[in-house]
Amino acid sequence: MASRSFPTGFLWGAATSSYQIEGAWQEDGKGESIWDRFTHTPGKIIDGSTGDVACDHYHRWADDVALMAELGLQAYRFSIAWPRILPVGRGPVNQAGLDFYNRLVDGLLAAGITPFVTLYHWDLPQALQDRGGWPVRATAEAFVEYADVVTRALGDRVQHWITHNEPWCIGLLSHQIGEHAPGWRVWPAALAASHHVLLSHGWAVPVIRANCPGAEVGITLNYTVAEAASPSAADARATRYFDGYFNRWFTDPVYGRGYPADMVDAYTTGGQLPRELDFVQPGDMEAIAAQTDFLGVNYYTRAILRDEQAADNLPPTRVASDDVTEMEWEVYPEGLYRLLVRLHFGYDIPKLYVTENGCSYGDGPDAQGRIQDDRRIAYLHGHLDACRRALEAGVPLAGYFQWSLMDNFEWAKGYTQRFGMVWVDYATQQRIPKASAYWYRDVIRANALPPLVAA
Ligand code: FCB
Repeated sequence: MASRSFPTGFLWGAATSSYQIEGAWQEDGKGESIWDRFTHTPGKIIDGSTGDVACDHYHRWADDVALMAELGLQAYRFSIAWPRILPVGRGPVNQAGLDFYNRLVDGLLAAGITPFVTLYHWDLPQALQDRGGWPVRATAEAFVEYADVVTRALGDRVQHWITHNEPWCIGLLSHQIGEHAPGWRVWPAALAASHHVLLSHGWAVPVIRANCPGAEVGITLNYTVAEAASPSAADARATRYFDGYFNRWFTDPVYGRGYPADMVDAYTTGGQLPRELDFVQPGDMEAIAAQTDFLGVNYYTRAILRDEQAADNLPPTRVASDDVTEMEWEVYPEGLYRLLVRLHFGYDIPKLYVTENGCSYGDGPDAQGRIQDDRRIAYLHGHLDACRRALEAGVPLAGYFQWSLMDNFEWAKGYTQRFGMVWVDYATQQRIPKASAYWYRDVIRANALPPLVAA
């Protein structure tokens, strides 16, 4: 392959999720989700906003598909809102909800865009939360029922399925740290929630395969690359712990290694978990290790770990650069390269997609209405080059999805963060492609990266 080009057939896409863009939170029989409940609870979202309307994609999907086509996207990753399909989580199916996704899938296919469907991107039906939510095993059973309904309905046309988006966020960010819905801060429940998410993934894989013969099935995990602040043993331990907590706890079981022994030990003896992992039942780990076709990788940044308590720690030799996005996430493309290499060679993963990568910058329209988001172009350039280098190193990376197609509701940060390659004016719902969107279109056309010209 020529130095800056990508392999033939490399898939170029963009990603979104249901709650972040759809709006129409109470329309056509949709049930309440935990994000509806959370955003309507004062104090949870930084700007007091909700996803009630968001990008109004529920009504504007046809224009959005047309825009994707105009930008040359080959694939689109979106998620299904569980409570649109099963308003109370299980049981009665809401045909109007399925019809919305039927129309969207048909529209994408007519535009020549390959749909990648994520079944769960965080909007659990509130009715299931009321019965205990993810910390309860029955929620995993409910997920399989939901996955069955959706894959039966769309499986004749959708060939790429992602069970879950970011189990770390579902389990820990939402149940230990409490920043996301349902906003719990209960440590053992957080680990049980994570387990049930993984279990539901493993149980759903054969169901999806049965409903969609020939389809690819995978899961999307999120990664924060962990690096030590110094070469000290204390910082190495802190780094290994963070990597275990954030990355290995999810990747290891999916790839048949069970929960990492050092972390089980740390959790059960370190006082953080006052009991054994009693939510793990016989057969669970085998189920979680169900063979998949690909791993979806979400990557945004790294963490530099320092043991602040260690008395004789060495001085830091690694510090974060001040090149950060508006999420205050360090721009660190090298991390993506290292991650892809580590995942493929360390876990023998046959196929990977970057299912999310992107950056938040507030650049908006100038006097002429143009949006010159050069920092996003630089970010994408760096990270796509990391992908290209990983491919050269032998990583079977099959595609890249930019987060995000358009500015949208960024969870606890509301509308204060803009990750889109397309600007959204929330007052008018006007969409304006940013310079980076045209840049990305040209990359897709060339199937290669241009030289980076400094702005
Ligand atoms: C990821 C989420 C996605 C978006 C980006 C910025 O963790 O999957 O929905 O919020 O972060």
